[in-house]
Amino acid sequence: MAGHNKGGRRMTNIVVLGTQWGDEGKGKIVDALAQEERFRAVVRYQGGNNAGHTVVVGGERYAFHLLPSGILSPSKDCVIGAGVVLNPQVLCEELQQIASRLGQQHARLWISEKAHLVMPWHVLRDRITGGTVGTTGRGIGPAYSDGVARRGIRWADTRYPGRFALRVEEEAMWNRQLIAAMLDHWHIPGEQREQLQLHEALDAATVVAGYWTCIEEIKSNPLVRSGDVSAFLDGLLSQGQALLFEGAQATLLDIAHGTYPFVTSSHPTVGGVYVGTGCRPRELHVLGVAKAYTTRVGAGPFPTELEDEVSERLREVGHEYGTTTGRPRRCGWLDLTVLRYARRVNGLDALALTKLDVLTGIHPLRVATRYCVGGDSVAFFTVHDADVEHAGVVYEECAGWDQDITGVTRFADLPGPARQYVLRIEDEVGVPVTMVGVGPGRSQLIRR
Ligand code: IMP
Repeated sequence: MAGHNKGGRRMTNIVVLGTQWGDEGKGKIVDALAQEERFRAVVRYQGGNNAGHTVVVGGERYAFHLLPSGILSPSKDCVIGAGVVLNPQVLCEELQQIASRLGQQHARLWISEKAHLVMPWHVLRDRITGGTVGTTGRGIGPAYSDGVARRGIRWADTRYPGRFALRVEEEAMWNRQLIAAMLDHWHIPGEQREQLQLHEALDAATVVAGYWTCIEEIKSNPLVRSGDVSAFLDGLLSQGQALLFEGAQATLLDIAHGTYPFVTSSHPTVGGVYVGTGCRPRELHVLGVAKAYTTRVGAGPFPTELEDEVSERLREVGHEYGTTTGRPRRCGWLDLTVLRYARRVNGLDALALTKLDVLTGIHPLRVATRYCVGGDSVAFFTVHDADVEHAGVVYEECAGWDQDITGVTRFADLPGPARQYVLRIEDEVGVPVTMVGVGPGRSQLIRR
């Protein structure tokens, strides 16, 4: 019976997705949920190694870019869906890192044969053109572009070495011409061209040799399977198993619904789950993750951004430096208009609020409740990007607190103003806050 367990009880699947501009702490929430027995598989449906999930377990810090956060749980299946772009060299390194710390005591990994590969020329193209958006430079946008242009190389193309070599030869030839034209168009000087190490990235034999070693290593790993992920997930649902979907990046970085063009090239919003896996779970609980303040890396609008001692403090106390690139994140007040928008676009059922402890000692706190353009109150996305600069942000003040909350385990034990802050968010966004993060550790999570 689809979607029911043996006792006939319907199993609820969960998607954990970002509600802001990423780095909300989704990894920690996925890791906490992955401990629950009811979830059999943790599934990534979009993004690539532009993501960075940090999980702290037993004082040890794990940073993943491509692997789903559930990979640390040996009883689980982890899945890389069709909507993910996969760099085999990165995947190979991450599997090696985990194996060196946990041996074969980690989750099984299923890779969709439909997933597109990130090739060295994608990284080159990203490094040449990604500057204005401030991309992570990992080749993500160009890999998705080639997929849409129907010239991508997919994991299925690695089934036979001859087929893979042929596809690499074809694409390397095309990219040599394309990249030469790009370098001329942007007048990239010789010195910079040298830094790009063009030969290494564009010579077919070199690329095949470098990639094939990694591909073989991945495929020979006894914990890795390749195939039809949609059928695999459908099978789990039919057995009444529950799935945990792990979003990367976030709502405002969605290619369709984010702050275009300052976005990533995939669909972190809820629709991405279906496209990126080929599976439609009937019962899907949508859990949005929101940081207790706002951060953003890369360029683009950020109306509640601060450039003062509060933002410095948020950055230092909250360790707001990119997991993938190490870039300092831009920091600002919590924007409730953003959370309301995320609620609408994703149909949020609940919120997990992270990093509440970082706000300790800041007086007063402020939250943005709406914007004003020309005296009129407007919702977030009625603000055209040309207007964002001139939009007035309407703030409300909230009382702060000084007590250390990093050891608090029950909501009732939080200081009054901290509880009020959470309740205010619930009120304004209209969904319950069911989890509150008070520190980076696995146990520093209050459940309500
Ligand atoms: P790309 O995904 O590398 O193409 O970068 C596009 C935009 O998304 C840039 O502003 C990046 O900083 C941002 N971005 C990509 N991945 C993440 C992430 O995991 N966290 C936060 N921002 C991200």
